[in-house]
Amino acid sequence: MSEFFYTLASNNHAAKYRHLQVAPAAGSLGADVTGVDLNRLSEAGFVELRQALLSHQVLFIREQNLSVEQLEAVTLQLGEFGREPFVETMPDHPHVIHVVKEADEKAPFVFGGAWHTDWSFQARPPAFTLLYGADIPPYGGDTLYANLCLAYDWLSPKMKEICEGLNALHSPERGYGPAARHNDLLENMTVRYGNVDAELRAHPLITRHPETGRKVLFVNPTYTVGIEGLRPDEAQPILDYLFAMPTAPAFTCRMRWSKGTLAIWDNRCTWHNPIADYHGSRREMYRTTVVGEAPSR
Ligand code: SIN
Repeated sequence: MSEFFYTLASNNHAAKYRHLQVAPAAGSLGADVTGVDLNRLSEAGFVELRQALLSHQVLFIREQNLSVEQLEAVTLQLGEFGREPFVETMPDHPHVIHVVKEADEKAPFVFGGAWHTDWSFQARPPAFTLLYGADIPPYGGDTLYANLCLAYDWLSPKMKEICEGLNALHSPERGYGPAARHNDLLENMTVRYGNVDAELRAHPLITRHPETGRKVLFVNPTYTVGIEGLRPDEAQPILDYLFAMPTAPAFTCRMRWSKGTLAIWDNRCTWHNPIADYHGSRREMYRTTVVGEAPSR
């Protein structure tokens, strides 16, 4: 791609909150949150936290001290738990995934290590994912995010018109189908290779965010496998463009973890991609999701 991508100063701008301090991390999306203890945050504080999340799309809430039960309690402040297919959850915690890579693992492969929106093939994909950093490598293991509202905005008027009329097909096939054995490289997580055919689902290719009203380019390179009504060789060139354009640096941010950081991201308008660059170090996280709405125009 040879375009000169940019984002405007009006995007991801700083705002004042009463219960939190929020500092944008980039011009595209993402913010660091300080000055808050999630175990003691009031109802009004959680209302502000949600406002900040809708405005910045990804929050890295620093210096938290959360047990698994407390992570569950924070999750429930945002909505109901999402459904976790394919990855074994923790014993006694059916909504929590222990995302861990030990220092002595043989492969440099990491869980979820490609651009994606969580479980976009579900009828009601997660609105939010929460990921708590319990043990963080001395360097490496950052997570990249991309802003899919900016990606939509970038499309030309004619391309918007074409995309608005299309439905994209989402499937877990590449990640969790019978041929997706890369997940066997995860030595300390258990992946279940389920019936992926039952999870093939069409969603509008352009959606409207149910809370902000912004339009979103709702496809992703991991789970979007086609476009309804188009032959694969017709759909693929369109998808190739739509998979590449949102990764322009101006539309992304790179978030650095620290021990005790709780990340929350809005899956309805972002992609994420954890970087596999910490082989030989330990990284341990706890992950939950909040169920969202059926994606709609
Ligand atoms: C995920 O895709 O849920 C994992 C993200 C991460 O490990 O940073």
